[in-house]
Amino acid sequence: MANGVRSIQFSEREEVREEQFSEVWTQELDHVFADVAKYYDRANHVASLGMWNWLRDRFLATMELKSGQKVLDVCAGTNAIGIALLQKQADLDVQAIDRSVAMQQVGRERAGQRGLHIDSTIGDVHRLPFPDNYFDVATLQYASRHLRIMDVFSEIKRVLKPGGHFYHCDMLRPSNKIVERLYYGYLRLCLTVTGWLFRSGPSALACKKYFVSALSMFYSANELSNLLTYLGFKQVSSKSVLGGMIAFHKAVKDDNV
Ligand SMILES: C[S@@+](CC[C@H](N)C(=O)[O-])C[C@H]1O[C@@H](n2cnc3c(N)ncnc32)[C@H](O)[C@@H]1O
Repeated sequence: MANGVRSIQFSEREEVREEQFSEVWTQELDHVFADVAKYYDRANHVASLGMWNWLRDRFLATMELKSGQKVLDVCAGTNAIGIALLQKQADLDVQAIDRSVAMQQVGRERAGQRGLHIDSTIGDVHRLPFPDNYFDVATLQYASRHLRIMDVFSEIKRVLKPGGHFYHCDMLRPSNKIVERLYYGYLRLCLTVTGWLFRSGPSALACKKYFVSALSMFYSANELSNLLTYLGFKQVSSKSVLGGMIAFHKAVKDDNV
């Protein structure tokens, strides 16, 4: 596909996503995550049928880490990734950023209980408050569906050092239509069950429909690889699991910039 054609396709798609979801992204999601913060991790264990830690470990297995590296965990939530990274490589310098005070509060407590330290910045990730060429590694797990990803991925590229690695994990739109339908049905059921089990508040319950719509308008693993390549990342690779419902992407910032 020619680059010009790609650029129009990605930009148009991002415009449609933004038009459809910007109200939820800017006004409702903060209330949702304030509500779910206290049971976020337990709900994910239930929703993933006990595969939450296994998926995280599969994601971590895709990462090359070196002693003393500076890591940025984008949309860090309750620090699931930061904690696992420090448990794998204790001398990393991990910086978390997330807009939700409640999620980061839980994340700080979880890290503290394990004797780990993760620096925390509260802020919107569409503009990362860090210098150019600063981090060796950036991670982003389970949040891209809520973001203007062309902007956020470009910001991640800006703050990565040349040769720095970006690791991405998210629920994606399966390219197989049958898997896609089953997936959305399962998600609807899950959101109902976890909402009932954990007594979700009104904001989380009101966003149930959004979570499935956001996924249905999101990218497949291949499309996400193309987007990363289009944005100038090199050595883009991906590994899909569970029939393409989740994929791990790896991308490198060009050494020559
Ligand atoms: C589903 S949680 C994922 C948390 C964590 N990465 C994980 O894997 O468990 C999504 C997180 O993205 C954050 N988020 C969503 N939009 C954001 C934005 N524009 N800026 C910063 N954080 C955002 C939410 O506050 C929430 O903590």
